[in-house]
Amino acid sequence: MSDLDRKLLFVTGKGGVGKTTVSVALAQRARASGRRVLLALTEGGQAARQLGVPAIGDQIEQLSDGLHVVLLEPRAALREYAEMSLPPSLVRALLDNRYSRSFLSAVPGLYPWACLGKAWYHSTETVDGRDRFDSVIIDAPATGHGLEMLRVPRVISEAAAPGILKRDAEQAWAMITDPARTSVVVVSLPEELPMLESLELIADLRALGLELARYVLNGRLSDLFTEQEPSWLGLDSATLSADAQQVLAIGERRLCDERAQAAVEAKARQLGVPLSVLPWVFGADTPEGTAVLARALAQSQ
Ligand SMILES: Nc1ncnc2c1ncn2[C@@H]1O[C@H](COP(=O)(O)OP(=O)(O)O)[C@@H](O)[C@H]1O
Ligand SMILES: [Mg+2]
Repeated sequence: MSDLDRKLLFVTGKGGVGKTTVSVALAQRARASGRRVLLALTEGGQAARQLGVPAIGDQIEQLSDGLHVVLLEPRAALREYAEMSLPPSLVRALLDNRYSRSFLSAVPGLYPWACLGKAWYHSTETVDGRDRFDSVIIDAPATGHGLEMLRVPRVISEAAAPGILKRDAEQAWAMITDPARTSVVVVSLPEELPMLESLELIADLRALGLELARYVLNGRLSDLFTEQEPSWLGLDSATLSADAQQVLAIGERRLCDERAQAAVEAKARQLGVPLSVLPWVFGADTPEGTAVLARALAQSQ
């Protein structure tokens, strides 16, 4: 079984590095290998484009290829959680009252817990004695909020009074910190600064007791140049036409990017965690582009 075939899979990283793209590709990969998958998203627009559907809502929906998707919308998730744990009159009093609603929105950790708790609940859900899903893949919010979401069950289990909330938070925390049931995937770009930030994130995850299962470098440029010095490097550009000088400048910039990228990739290989390197693809926000990435991901293991 791959490190990616766990019951819960968190995909996290800095904003804009391709978390959603990688989450969708992971979900498609898992689905293609026969797993029943729920892709739980904290933002739905990008994934909807990649999956070729008009929108992703807060109710679980099965797409034509058998993949299930849901939007982790904090208020809807909180209502669902309240309805499972409290009598209807109390739910109405809490959630349909303007004053208690604004009070609830100020309670730290409540909304991240509602979202994480929903994903965790579906990872434990059974239908006719059988697990409803083999994998729940969570496209977590960007770095800081993603960490908050992962940390919140521990905070609740330590701080809450005995009761349903404490019990659920304890069970969710036990699951999240169990590497046999949960994997964390950190996504980054093959560039120096994003990588440094992702190393800090990995250290924070480890401090929380969560082990990184896979590191993904997303959007790698293909190598146009071989490792040998290109013969044009020593050219005296003053002897070239204006057009040739421009081409030379573009080539030199690209060569610099490729070398910087190779250096980041070499460092990533020294991290000692499984690494997937995904190519930069044209149209990554379309179903076709995402399919290319899902195949690359499946081959990179
Ligand atoms: N491998 C890739 N090649 C090219 N473009 C990509 C790739 N991965 C992501 N993108 C593009 O980068 C942007 C950010 O990706 P997204 O998955 O939304 O990031 P995040 O969820 O981390 O904010 C999107 O426009 C997406 O289409
Ligand atoms: Mg995203």
